Amino acid sequence: MTSIIQFADVHFGLEDQSAMAALAATVETLKPDVTVICGDITQNGKVSEFEAARDWIRSLSGPKIITPGNHDTPMFGLFQRFFDPFGRFNRIIAPLSEPYFADQYVSITTLNTARGWQKKADWSVGVVDLEDLDTAVQQLMSTSPATVKMIAVHHPLIYPPVSPLQKETQRGQEALASLSAQNIDAVLSGHVHVPFVLERQPNLTEVMSIGAGTLSTRRREKPASFNHIVVDDERIIVTEVFWKDGQFSTSEPWAKDVSELKSRKFPNSL
Ligand SMILES: [Fe+2]
Repeated sequence: MTSIIQFADVHFGLEDQSAMAALAATVETLKPDVTVICGDITQNGKVSEFEAARDWIRSLSGPKIITPGNHDTPMFGLFQRFFDPFGRFNRIIAPLSEPYFADQYVSITTLNTARGWQKKADWSVGVVDLEDLDTAVQQLMSTSPATVKMIAVHHPLIYPPVSPLQKETQRGQEALASLSAQNIDAVLSGHVHVPFVLERQPNLTEVMSIGAGTLSTRRREKPASFNHIVVDDERIIVTEVFWKDGQFSTSEPWAKDVSELKSRKFPNSL
């Protein structure tokens, strides 16, 4: 069995310290095999925010997979934002992340969907570089064909209906179709601050989209939360864990038979 904690959008600077403490205690209790952090680690991309995040992430035991979000570029340092948007993230946070995670049941890698700036008014929207996506897929294909294959990003490739925020990730639809064609099983994301689990079927794909909520005080109609994902020989189970009024509550777990996953149905094509 592989146990995964997935969280996103801590937004250090506007972090929810009680939710973070609860998550840290959960990591100590559950001892997940890996913790996946889906971006927006800081609020304004300040060095002080990154350093506080680094100290806290370092205190969580076990391996981590970390990808940046659109808030993880310097909000106020335009020169850096244009010429070295992820310099601070790469220097302070990236050394805490494994390049990828793989064990008997699961393999996970990352894809950066955030940008320092874009040729459009809204620099916060997600962008998929299809060459980067190919690199990520190749990484997953280098692991055992028997693993459930996941890519961690910041922006959902397609926004879920439950999100109060509705935007379009550039090349998101195309990326999802490509992941499906290559039998990748799941996309883990953050950004919209509400948790969700969906099976996306654009162009007949069957890619699971598993979104984490936020651990910040920037709520969008939902309490602070994170996801607990368990994969064994039989099933993948996702539970949303909410932190409200000093206690946890959990969603009805979402489950799928592993035999139904694309990587299991079509292992020879990997
Ligand atoms: Fe974001």
